[in-house]
Amino acid sequence: MADEKEIGTTGHQWDDEEGYPLKEYNNPLPKWWLYSYYATIVYAVVYWILYPAWPIPGGEYTKGVLGWSQHKQLEEELAVSNAAKKPFNDKLAALSTDEIAKDSQLLQYAVSAGKAIFGDNCAPCHGGSGVGAKAGGFPALVDDDWLYGGTFEQISETIRGGRAGQMPAHLDSAEGSFTAAQVEDLTQYTLSLSGSSTDAGAAGRGDALYRGDAGCNNCHGDSGKGSLLGSANGEKLDESIGAPNLTDGIWLYGGDAKTVKHSIAYGRKGVMPAWEADSEGSNRKLSELEIKQLAIYVHTLGGGK
Ligand code: HEC
Ligand code: HEC
Repeated sequence: MADEKEIGTTGHQWDDEEGYPLKEYNNPLPKWWLYSYYATIVYAVVYWILYPAWPIPGGEYTKGVLGWSQHKQLEEELAVSNAAKKPFNDKLAALSTDEIAKDSQLLQYAVSAGKAIFGDNCAPCHGGSGVGAKAGGFPALVDDDWLYGGTFEQISETIRGGRAGQMPAHLDSAEGSFTAAQVEDLTQYTLSLSGSSTDAGAAGRGDALYRGDAGCNNCHGDSGKGSLLGSANGEKLDESIGAPNLTDGIWLYGGDAKTVKHSIAYGRKGVMPAWEADSEGSNRKLSELEIKQLAIYVHTLGGGK
């Protein structure tokens, strides 16, 4: 019986038929367990008071006396990071690109900022590292072949205002006025400019059309070097036409006979969107500083002049 006293019973007892009483022991929980349990209750209540916790009717919730929220925390952390960037950004905005290029730390900062903006906004079309995509007519930005120019100013202007290449259709079943045979001749001549023509007779007939009735030279230049580098009838071409160089074997849409013929027959209209923030500063547009960072980044991609 001494044992039973040590353990203690609740006083409940059932007598079974053989006379062995069935007793209910009072076996307390270990103290450490019990106190931890109380502690969690206290913790929960304190938490409810301090932090956002319970939903209340009307789509609201208890805000907690500390006024903490994830949004606020994010804002505070952003403010700290923006404060750290501010001196760099101020300097970037104030200095010319030549001056920036001389300050290696500042240049590095601009390039990495530009790279991040590029990843968010430009990579869907131009590819993650600016390699471009022929399937969409998205030019590579890593080579030294430009439609509209690779100086810092030209790149900035492209980003700010956007560009729209207008290559007219030539096949008369589209909007053009040339027969399928003439389009084939023009294709062979175009291919001959980069040394890949397979039909010299057709290329010869295409040559006459190129600088005659079709007037391709008015945009692509007399020697096919494109509107940026070429000239027509002794006059420098307008750089904003964006007609590609047809002689260098670098293609916007593709240089196989079928793709070239398609470009000539049906035309091409590549559109580079404009990114300058309009006066309301609305939609996805970029700030002047972001455009500068981007232009510096694109300029350093490898093709910058
Ligand atoms: C919706 C697709 C699209 C997006 C997004 C886009 N671009 Fe373009 N970009 C183009 C196309 C298409 C062209 C070629 C325009 C043409 O054919 O005339 C182009 C042309 C350019 C050129 C001129 C290349 C040259 O050879 O002269 C630069 C520079 C450029 N983009 C930079 C950017 C930057 C920087 C961004 C991000 C802010 C960007 N692009 C976002 C489609 C896009
Ligand atoms: C009004 C100016 C203009 C005329 C005229 C013109 N082109 Fe173009 N051409 C362009 C432009 C601009 C592009 C680039 C289209 C784009 O950006 O989407 C282009 C693109 C092309 C391409 C695709 C090149 C590539 O890299 O994939 C070929 C090929 C081409 N032109 C050949 C010709 C031929 C041949 C003629 C004459 C029959 C001609 N073009 C007449 C402006 C012109």
